[in-house]
Amino acid sequence: MHQLFVWSALLMLSIGSKGMAQTPSVAATPPMGWNSWNHFAGKINDATVRAQADAMVSSGMRDAGYIYINIDDTWEAERDAQGVIHANSKFPDMKALADYVHGKGLKLGIYSSPGPKTCAEFEGSYGHEEQDAQTYAAWSIDYLKYDLCSFDKIMKAAGSAEAAHKLMLDAYTNMHNALLKTGRPMVFSLCQYGADAVWRWGASVGGNTWRTTGDIEDKYSSMTLIGFGQAGLAKFAGPGHWNDPDMLEVGNGGMMLEEYRTHMSLWALLAAPLLAGNDLSTMKPETIALLTNREVIAIDQDRLGQQADRVRAEGTQEIWARPLADGSKAIGIFNRFDWPQAIEINFREFGYKGSVKARDIWAGKDLGGLTGQYKTNVPSHGVVLLRVSE
Ligand code: GLA
Repeated sequence: MHQLFVWSALLMLSIGSKGMAQTPSVAATPPMGWNSWNHFAGKINDATVRAQADAMVSSGMRDAGYIYINIDDTWEAERDAQGVIHANSKFPDMKALADYVHGKGLKLGIYSSPGPKTCAEFEGSYGHEEQDAQTYAAWSIDYLKYDLCSFDKIMKAAGSAEAAHKLMLDAYTNMHNALLKTGRPMVFSLCQYGADAVWRWGASVGGNTWRTTGDIEDKYSSMTLIGFGQAGLAKFAGPGHWNDPDMLEVGNGGMMLEEYRTHMSLWALLAAPLLAGNDLSTMKPETIALLTNREVIAIDQDRLGQQADRVRAEGTQEIWARPLADGSKAIGIFNRFDWPQAIEINFREFGYKGSVKARDIWAGKDLGGLTGQYKTNVPSHGVVLLRVSE
């Protein structure tokens, strides 16, 4: 008995010490939440973050699975004489803000850079990694986006591509270790725009997510360039470590409803982090409906964690499919053309020989049993998203 107790205590200790930060336990499924950058950029402050947390709850987004409230760049002030980072006057009390967000059943995220300066020229973590990680932990932060920015100058000075690459990996590893040392679970989100095939090494430097692209813009051209450009990356993602095609633009006003539906569907198929990037306090019902569709979220959050891949692209028609934990498949039928098109698929393309049961997710409609070919009208720049099982 006694020995069993000692062994289980030891086991718990070992799980506790290394099983907290940057492990599947903090991102077993792709993180869901909100980030300040796409809508507010430099105009973010304490009151706005609180309002977003309030709206996350009142809109039903929290109950649909959105948990992280992430402050992006421009919160930082200078360091004090001891080198401790402080928040600027827009964020008078970061710990109080974290307490407020936690009080709503949500989590708080923050942003920094391995370079001396962030992308918006605020204070970065260069040379202060451990100190900053301790500060984040003291503030009860749950998520860190770590954005390369000015570290590229340090890399350029390294003299060779190999040396620069190693410097970058070391910089991410340093912060990973610093976060681990705090003992506080924090999602570690890498942002270096997809350079050097980050999907091949992001997990090895402790990344729970890594950006695979440059910055998204609130335009169909930008969103689809990124979204459809994720082909081939599926094998690098899985529970605890995800490809990140950047934050959502849904609801920001630059795309049509069907284009935002494509955005949501594609990101869910891609097992992408779902970080809303709009103003949650002024959402139209149609935006809430897109962001909180339970069946779409279930695809994104599917516990198998198998990202979709392209089955085929023919000109302006794209077919993507994602295997799900219950043996079914999510299938996206995308129309990139400026007019509506009837698009035909054959269930054999997805490995089904006999008849299948299909559901049109956005229509909320069971299609019954289908065999072989299936033809469906897809709106311009739109999608038909199916869930299919044997
Ligand atoms: C980079 C990132 C963006 C955002 C800004 C902030 O451009 O890619 O997502 O964090 O920096 O300055």
